[in-house]
Amino acid sequence: MVLKIEGGNKLYGTYNVQTAKNAVLPILAGSLLTSDKVTILDCPNILDVQNMLEILSSLGVNVEKNGSNITVFGEIKNIEVSNELSSLLRSSIFLLGPILAVKQKACIAYPGGCDIGLRPIDIHINGLRELGVKITEEFGYINCDATNMKPADILLDLPSVGATENLIMASIFLNGKTVLRNVAKEPEIVDLVHFLNSMGAKIAGEGTAVIEIEGVKNLHSTIYKPIPDRIVAGTILLAGATCGGEIELTNVQNDQIFSLTTKFAKNYCKIYSSYDNIILKSNGNLKAINQIETSYYPGFPTDLQAQLMASLLTARGTSVIVENLFETRYKQVPEFIKMGADIKVSGKTAIVRGVDRLYGAEMTAKDLRGGAGLVIAGLKAEGVSIISNIYHIDRGYENIEKVLQNLGAKIERVHE
Ligand code: EPZ
Repeated sequence: MVLKIEGGNKLYGTYNVQTAKNAVLPILAGSLLTSDKVTILDCPNILDVQNMLEILSSLGVNVEKNGSNITVFGEIKNIEVSNELSSLLRSSIFLLGPILAVKQKACIAYPGGCDIGLRPIDIHINGLRELGVKITEEFGYINCDATNMKPADILLDLPSVGATENLIMASIFLNGKTVLRNVAKEPEIVDLVHFLNSMGAKIAGEGTAVIEIEGVKNLHSTIYKPIPDRIVAGTILLAGATCGGEIELTNVQNDQIFSLTTKFAKNYCKIYSSYDNIILKSNGNLKAINQIETSYYPGFPTDLQAQLMASLLTARGTSVIVENLFETRYKQVPEFIKMGADIKVSGKTAIVRGVDRLYGAEMTAKDLRGGAGLVIAGLKAEGVSIISNIYHIDRGYENIEKVLQNLGAKIERVHE
């Protein structure tokens, strides 16, 4: 299947933002920390969630779906995540924490390099070792023995989202207090902590640079609704800003995408927002952004870099984008150039000179967010664009073509 887009339409309408992929994934991993029933509400129907459920089932727990609600319960019977399953989901690495907390042993295939960079896991491994986990790596597998795991005071080299989640879950049952410093502050970390605390965990400091975990004996059942997806929300806003029109987002926590909405203000888009909704009005004629650098939360998110770049391809003037988090997150650039974009990449920096118009082209999605960027550019371009390898996009966006059709876009999912 491919996405076929006929560009040129302005976008009008309302979109109720899907639940956050990057909150649901660690929360599903956290559901392993009790054999009681854990129900997660309104899960997005996306490939990454489906793959995570497959991994949980392979570990021996029960997984039940009731519409968009997912219930996980039962004992972990298998402590190994195979190469085949681990490669389905790069972020399966944070399954180590809960499996070690419950079973004291785990074996997981190295998640390996990814489409956006090396995706090293040294911070995960070093943190677990500081907790006393014995780790050997051989034949592409990471073998962990947590028999002597104990509380520790750990300083992370970088505020890694996955490593923060892994270490919180690994230390949850330790006898004493574990302190994690220089941790990630993303809203998805805060949501994971709220989820775990709803199960009886004693964690504090979420959203700050220091998180403290007071070990407890066990955790109990919960019913939990994760936060909305700030990256999907930002993607749809950027589509509206680029094409012009008027879009209202509901079920959005606008303080979580403040770094994006403040950029719109300088780009002749009107933004009106209350706590859980945002209205964007745009004439589709954007002004270039002198310089924007991706950084850790609450800075501009790397997961919106490709989508922002798409919006700047026809902006007036020259924009400079610096991608600080991942080494190869410009794979969308050659695809944009097929459409007539003027982009020069040198190392971490991309220089985008606005052109008068883009032309529809045949493009290939290379990764999740780059693929979303191609969709935005296709919506703006004159003529028809065809995007292949759209399974990348389906990893994180639920029915992206239906969401955009409802806003007036000419986009459909068709056979190649
Ligand atoms: C999470 O990935 C997100 N994924 C990513 O979203 C997001 O881009 C990233 O955080 C940054 O915000 C999920 O939450 C499932 P990191 P993660 O560890 O945890 C370096 C998407 O599109 N690093 O915070 O893998 C790393 O190379 C995905 O939804 C190490 O050096 O990211 C990067 O430069 C893509 N050693 C930086 O830290 C480590 O052990 C941030 O990575 C771990 C990370």
